[in-house]
Amino acid sequence: QSIHRRDYRAPTHLIDTVKLEFDLDPESTAVINTMAVRPNPESAVADGILTLQGEDLTLVSVSVNGRALSESEYDLTKTQLRIPGITSASEVTIVNRFNPTANTALSGIYASGANLMSQCESQGFRRITYYLDRPDVLARFTVVIRAPKALYPVLLSNGNRKEERDLDDGRHMVVWEDPFPKPSYLFALVAGRLACRRETMRVSDGRSVTLEVWVEPQDLEKTAHTMESLKKAIRWDESRWGLPLDLDDFKIVATNDFNFGAMENKGLNIFNARYALANPAVATDDDYFNIESVVGHEYFHNWTGNRVTLRDWFQLTLKEGLTVFRDQEFSADMLGEASARAVQRIKDVIRLRSAQFPEDAGPMAHPIRPESYVEINNFYTTTVYEKGAEVIRMLQTLLGRETFRKGFDDYIRTNDGKAVTCEAFLEAMERASGRSLEQFRLWYAQAGTPRVTVRSRWDEATHTFALEVTQTTPPTPGQAAKRPFLIPFPVALLDADGNKLPVRLLGEDAAPAPGTRMFELTEASSTFVFTGLAACPVPSLNRGFAAPVIVEANESLETLAFLASKDRDPFNRWDAMQRLMGEVIRRQIHARLLKSSEDVDRILIDAVGAMLDDETLSPAFKALALELPSEKILGEREPLIDPQAVHVARETVMTAIAKRWSTKFLETAQAMQVPGDYDPSAEPSGRRALMNLCLAYAQANSVPRALIMICDQYQTANNLTNRLAALKMIASSQSPRKNEFLVDALQSWAAEPLLVNKWLSIQAGAKAMPGETPIVERVRQLMQTEFFSLKNPNKVYALLLTFFTANPNEFHSLDGSGYQLWAEAVMELNRINPQVAARCARSLENWRRYTPALARLQHEAITALWERREELDSSVVEVLDKALHQ
Ligand code: ARG
Ligand code: ZN
Repeated sequence: QSIHRRDYRAPTHLIDTVKLEFDLDPESTAVINTMAVRPNPESAVADGILTLQGEDLTLVSVSVNGRALSESEYDLTKTQLRIPGITSASEVTIVNRFNPTANTALSGIYASGANLMSQCESQGFRRITYYLDRPDVLARFTVVIRAPKALYPVLLSNGNRKEERDLDDGRHMVVWEDPFPKPSYLFALVAGRLACRRETMRVSDGRSVTLEVWVEPQDLEKTAHTMESLKKAIRWDESRWGLPLDLDDFKIVATNDFNFGAMENKGLNIFNARYALANPAVATDDDYFNIESVVGHEYFHNWTGNRVTLRDWFQLTLKEGLTVFRDQEFSADMLGEASARAVQRIKDVIRLRSAQFPEDAGPMAHPIRPESYVEINNFYTTTVYEKGAEVIRMLQTLLGRETFRKGFDDYIRTNDGKAVTCEAFLEAMERASGRSLEQFRLWYAQAGTPRVTVRSRWDEATHTFALEVTQTTPPTPGQAAKRPFLIPFPVALLDADGNKLPVRLLGEDAAPAPGTRMFELTEASSTFVFTGLAACPVPSLNRGFAAPVIVEANESLETLAFLASKDRDPFNRWDAMQRLMGEVIRRQIHARLLKSSEDVDRILIDAVGAMLDDETLSPAFKALALELPSEKILGEREPLIDPQAVHVARETVMTAIAKRWSTKFLETAQAMQVPGDYDPSAEPSGRRALMNLCLAYAQANSVPRALIMICDQYQTANNLTNRLAALKMIASSQSPRKNEFLVDALQSWAAEPLLVNKWLSIQAGAKAMPGETPIVERVRQLMQTEFFSLKNPNKVYALLLTFFTANPNEFHSLDGSGYQLWAEAVMELNRINPQVAARCARSLENWRRYTPALARLQHEAITALWERREELDSSVVEVLDKALHQ
């Protein structure tokens, strides 16, 4: 049941135009689907059989060129409708029905409260009507929507509104026409009682365009930031990439019932409410930031994804990797100058390391362009998205910004209106640079995170410094041996003050060039010998995180502390501090294993104090650099993960730092207060982030004053960031009043789904104090309340996925109770929403990475589900299968 990339075949038929007429009804919606179909001249198969996909549909009738077919003239199965005899251009009309209310999978057209929403990527369109539901069939869509006006006063679809009128018996009708041919996955339909914020904007070619954000009426006051973000995104795509908005109308719709973040349907983007609604009472600094980023991401798809689309789903990274790269650059540009941009880069890398590196090290490891899948929905992964973006970024680094831009323009120009493969992008870059990217292509074909090991040698006699750089990539499922990648590897040599030394390689004639040297690693091993140095330098490696690799340089704590205070590359400075922390925590883990004790090294404690005092660093940077690596990232580095040991070690180090700098933390927290009205922009957000981190440290030292300040902050904060941060600290504190606070929060937040979700997350991510109910019990209790529902993906993610993935110490409890809950939840979710079930199922896929007792318990839980695989959706089965057998 696996689908392989090599099996791609051009479609047997093409669809030039399609007219969809909907008669909306929450329980039984009717569709009349009229397609202008013709045989594809490029197809190798010319038997005239038109095979359309369909799922959970009730077929009413099929006609060809106006003649109704009898049941014997076509072949209908659970997933296909086969119509023979389509050997020339024909009009094929299908009439079918489906039930939006019964659609709990949230794929196709489904009910969200009293509204109807759609989600078609990847294969949801076949749950609306029978169609060639594949991305390489591009058709012009006309959509007629008829519906009861009282129930569905607003009727939206892609493109331009051509007609609108009232019908008899209280119904009305709207006609939409999309001028751009598109694949079915970009189709969208929205119906309901919605209100909109509307603005007009003049775009670069002088046209005036209408922008709309559609939400439920009570949410209208939460749309200002979304609208602002959209305008910024439009401007940025014009100025940075020369790409204009190609439509006169652009719409965003928000819904509380959505499987993912958002969707780039042509001209009608649909968003999970958490990425579309904000005001100071419901959104944190991070939410404001994420909204801008996701609005940008979906908007940027208009060119990278929609105008240039995919030939098949194996090419997903062609649009996703590229668009994530574009949204990362957008976010960085919105932050301003270089040091602020670094904050963005750091956040991107944290995400890569905490989610993508584990994926690359587990049974689901796949190249950014996978070779096979069972269920494409399982491949909307952080490898395809985030590693995919790193691969695009490496191209920009290797070719230079200007050449990269030339290649990008060429890519868009050559492929506009087409459905293409990743090759199209690489070929455009080859044309622009005149350079072969043969070896670079391995990034598209090989999975796994490369290890780059660096050994350095200083020769006092010759004053030469040698770097021996070796790359290896561990085996991944189906790929035992790997070839060396082409890895951009920028290196600077620093003197004792952190200045970049002029570098000259042995045998080079050129005068030594000051600055960072861009090496390209192409072999398994290479040695670079530097000459003309006065003293042994300190190398600063893979500056700016140029390549998504793990660098192992075996630096001493002293060297890491030096880099953390002196490296002028802000990314590497942050990274050095994180590695210093990681190394000190690792020593605690090992000491615990050996039942010995080890002091937390002074080098780290001093480095933290020095950075806290450094006036040249922004608060946003300090907040990122001074936060200890997450338990997830720390565990990942161990040969076998022992979540409890990681937790205790991290707490030990945190407490030691907190003890030494307790006064400094409290003072900094005070100094970082932001007076005045709430402003979510980068500068005050950074101050709040540092303030809350300092309070967390102060609390780790159990300073009574800290808890008082935190409780006070909860009560008096004028913004959600501080209120939530305080509640989070209270929830994991010794405070005897913590339940009081949690109940208080619930009372003020109960009416707002976004806030209830945050409230659920806090509890799922909390640590239980001795004597308190274990978190797993707490989660079970919360599941029984009216504030939770397995039918709502956001609630499942907030409560269950947070517990499964962001609370390792509690979830991986030695009695297996977390795994028991996991198995029950996956089983239940499977009946409701297989995509959400599969996503939760993945929480145990890396079971082999754990200590034997935990691995065994996880294996038992997975096996118990595997034995019931007959009851499970293929997407969940794929995850379990890979977990057990790869
Ligand atoms: N294309 C959407 C985005 O990246 C995500 C769609 C997710 N779809 C899925 N089937 N997993 O913005
Ligand atoms: Zn995307």
